[in-house]
Amino acid sequence: MTSSRKGIILAGGNATRLYPLTYSVSKQLMPVYDKPMIYYPLSTLMLTGIKEYLVIVSPIHLDAFKTLLGDGNQWGISIKYAIQEKPEGLAQAFLIAEEFIDNHPSALILGDNLYHGNELIPQLEKANIKQTGATIFVYPVSDPERYGVAEFDENKKVINLEEKPRTPKSRYAVTGIYFYDDSAVNKAKQIMPSSRGELEITSLNNLYLKENNLFVEIMGRGMAWLDTGTFDSLHQAGSYIRLLERRQGLKVGCPEEVAWRKNWINKKELKKLAENMLKSGYGKYLLDIQKDPFFEN
Ligand code: DAU
Repeated sequence: MTSSRKGIILAGGNATRLYPLTYSVSKQLMPVYDKPMIYYPLSTLMLTGIKEYLVIVSPIHLDAFKTLLGDGNQWGISIKYAIQEKPEGLAQAFLIAEEFIDNHPSALILGDNLYHGNELIPQLEKANIKQTGATIFVYPVSDPERYGVAEFDENKKVINLEEKPRTPKSRYAVTGIYFYDDSAVNKAKQIMPSSRGELEITSLNNLYLKENNLFVEIMGRGMAWLDTGTFDSLHQAGSYIRLLERRQGLKVGCPEEVAWRKNWINKKELKKLAENMLKSGYGKYLLDIQKDPFFEN
């Protein structure tokens, strides 16, 4: 199914916690095992049927993103680009993307967030169908103080969201994928910078919550939501993907495969994409999936 929702991938920031790796290369282009990091969030949104994307990047990395992703036509989608001059907060994405969103519903995903698990597609589809309100996804973590954190009442209803609280009210972190109705841009315009000087996505989500229009989905223990912000977590994410891929012989976060399974590109087009990448084995994978009888298109 194709969705009229617009997809935004936020891939700016300075990633100083990964220096010197990220002095000259964008964090979201770093390898996670066999693919650039941004392939994973892009594939996640493609799985929901979204075909129009805006990738928001830091000025110095624009050309590298364009070289990698192009205009999206090779995957049957459209990719446009916008620059975020400085990392002034996640909610700024909606000010930058106003024209692109053009009063449509949207979905924002952080360019460094990796999701994997059986529940993922049904949960995202559920969010995608909603035309009003916002949907966020929370996930239990052992270090909630590093994230946006949900506070629940006795009926398990979310009553507040706090950004990086010193004393978290729960261990449910708000993950980096968000679905919004067409009022996100207007709401983002009402937000003031936080004490750390950022337009917080948590403030935007709290505006929806105040209107009683925020849906909160819990990602369960069968799901993986991976971090890539430090040397160790980046390495662990790569190891996790490697383990899964080698065990199953199936790739995670492969936009070519998603495009083909969605029928956005045909066999001939997939074969053409594969031809450039035969030496790495990635191309062979793209040829082999066409022969798998259980995954036929
Ligand atoms: O990962 C989920 C968390 O992401 C949420 O739980 C938090 O509520 C949300 O605020 C955010 O947390 P951080 O503030 O820790 O995100 P960080 O600054 O690490 O930025 C996330 C990604 O977005 C990162 O790859 C850089 C990029 N970014 C960040 C900012 C602030 C931008 O492209 N532009 C920005 O202005």
